[in-house]
Amino acid sequence: MCGIIGYVGQKNNTELGIKALKRLEYRGYDSAGMAIVENEKISSVKISGKVNQLKESLKKTDFSGTPCLFHSRWATHGKPTEENAHPQFDCSGRVAVVHNGIIENYRKLKEKLIDEGHEFTSETDTEVIAHLIEKFYEEDLTEAVRKTVSLLQGAYGLAVISVEAPEKIVAARMSSPVVISVNESGGFVASDPAAIVEHSQKMVFLEDGEIATVTEDGFEVTDMENISQSKKEVEIDWDLEEAQKSGHPHFMMKEMTEQPKSIKNSFRGRILMKEGDVKLGGLDEVVEKLKSIEKLTILACGTSSYAGLVGKYLIEEISEIPVEAGLASEFRYRKRPYGEKEAFLFVSQSGETADTLEALKKTKKKGALTLGIVNVVGSSIARETDAGIYNHAGPEIGVASSKAFASQLSVLTLLAVYLGRQRNLSVNEGREILKNLSGVPDSVEKILQKKEEIKKLAEKYKDFEHFLFMGRRYNYPTALEGALKLKEISYIHAEGYSAAEMKHGPIALIDENFPTFAICLKDSVYDKMISNVEEIKAREGPIIALKTEGDEEIEGVVDDTLSIPKIHESLSPILAVVPLQLFAYYVAVKKGHDPDKPEGLAKCVTVT
Ligand code: AGP
Ligand code: GLU
Repeated sequence: MCGIIGYVGQKNNTELGIKALKRLEYRGYDSAGMAIVENEKISSVKISGKVNQLKESLKKTDFSGTPCLFHSRWATHGKPTEENAHPQFDCSGRVAVVHNGIIENYRKLKEKLIDEGHEFTSETDTEVIAHLIEKFYEEDLTEAVRKTVSLLQGAYGLAVISVEAPEKIVAARMSSPVVISVNESGGFVASDPAAIVEHSQKMVFLEDGEIATVTEDGFEVTDMENISQSKKEVEIDWDLEEAQKSGHPHFMMKEMTEQPKSIKNSFRGRILMKEGDVKLGGLDEVVEKLKSIEKLTILACGTSSYAGLVGKYLIEEISEIPVEAGLASEFRYRKRPYGEKEAFLFVSQSGETADTLEALKKTKKKGALTLGIVNVVGSSIARETDAGIYNHAGPEIGVASSKAFASQLSVLTLLAVYLGRQRNLSVNEGREILKNLSGVPDSVEKILQKKEEIKKLAEKYKDFEHFLFMGRRYNYPTALEGALKLKEISYIHAEGYSAAEMKHGPIALIDENFPTFAICLKDSVYDKMISNVEEIKAREGPIIALKTEGDEEIEGVVDDTLSIPKIHESLSPILAVVPLQLFAYYVAVKKGHDPDKPEGLAKCVTVT
């Protein structure tokens, strides 16, 4: 999920590498490092911190060799320490690897390698790659990499250098981007065009299962069977800023578009379909305690608190544990008894939100069991909780959360099945839920194809000054999230409401100037939602209905509709939220606002 740059050529390696890494800083990262082949050995500098620290450290060196690798890490396995920073090495220190992604089967591979005498120095999944290359190396680095990646399960974008092959860099790709370029400056391997675009706008993008051998004079791409692949050079006419957004106009659009991949990464290697169960390594230490909890309280802020509300329904209904979900910012002031068998779950993308952290510290003081669902590895909330589950959603740059929310819902579903299978959830019930979850990325991809349709709706509704979002049960939190998205990036007043509450007050607001976004999916509350829609129609309120594909019944009742694929009600918020994110985004852009940097908002609220 983070930054790779490999270079073989005669230019100043360290200067080029640092500049390239700085081009990738926008992605967020927690540590960085480099390695270079010179004088028949590999030298390396790694830091747990920012690229500038790496730059300062390199000033004390006079590296002039080639090739070299640079990496900025977004930790998924192992804290963001110097030892865990990349490059990672084999036993001899003669093979260096940088890697983006997640090696799902690294534990098994590591155990086998240790049995064979390999010694590991890091907690990362990545390090197994270097030791496998060492194991398979005879006289061809590319062949050793091919044999290695044939054993890997999971996602990787990787680059390798070795003292034995100082003229080349070998790269490989599976689900995590790798781009290469050979030009008059030399040979380049990177995880993102932004790192190369100033040297050349002509690049080659690797496909899954491809391996590239790059020298300063040329490159060859082969597949897993060592069959040469003819590759088309792509002209990247993006400027640097566009390149950092992979050609999208904003990080928010890039991140909304990444949701199929980030949702897949959130459950990658965690679903045990045969057993109808899930594997959550981060909960291993508290598995027995979790078997006996009789209440769970979910606490968070903002969008994450809405994920927590969905989690309440999910966990209550799938595991039959009573669940409370609320605002961490409010919980801090409550004086309430703590149950003996109560656990607390803190949901936070950044892992640094002050209100959430304060609520966590308060519950820890009471001796309660504390869990986390956090995206940033090694963040304060991740460190403070007794156990937890990382989202693996990758860096989220846009202030308005999108892919993090989707991955939170995915992880909460996994947690619900995990707790349910400890109780009365059957294998088949578990399989049914996990099958539905596995299909979510493709369904989100289908919804993303409707961007033009949603853009048109945004054009039609962008000038209203007020908006109501309403839903019931699982999609009451979705309504809250849809309203938050619209208000935080377009500055239109928007309220999220439980549709059941309309007649307790909000219906008084409705007239032709107050449109409603109604989440009316074919589910257990469909008929009730139709009644709400009729009430609004009776007051001339414009209505956009989010409906299930194929539902013709609602067409005649509302002004506009957007549809999402049919899905198990408990998983519908992950799909329903996507049109709401896109709608808010297009309204904001059409009103001339920058959705990445909403006025007065920060990506992480570290003050209470
Ligand atoms: C959501 O779009 C906002 N960026 C904000 O509400 C955010 O969700 C909230 O500040 C919580 O942040 P966290 O998930 O990093 O704790
Ligand atoms: N999974 C690897 C690690 O935790 C790579 C992380 C990344 O993509 O930056 O070191």
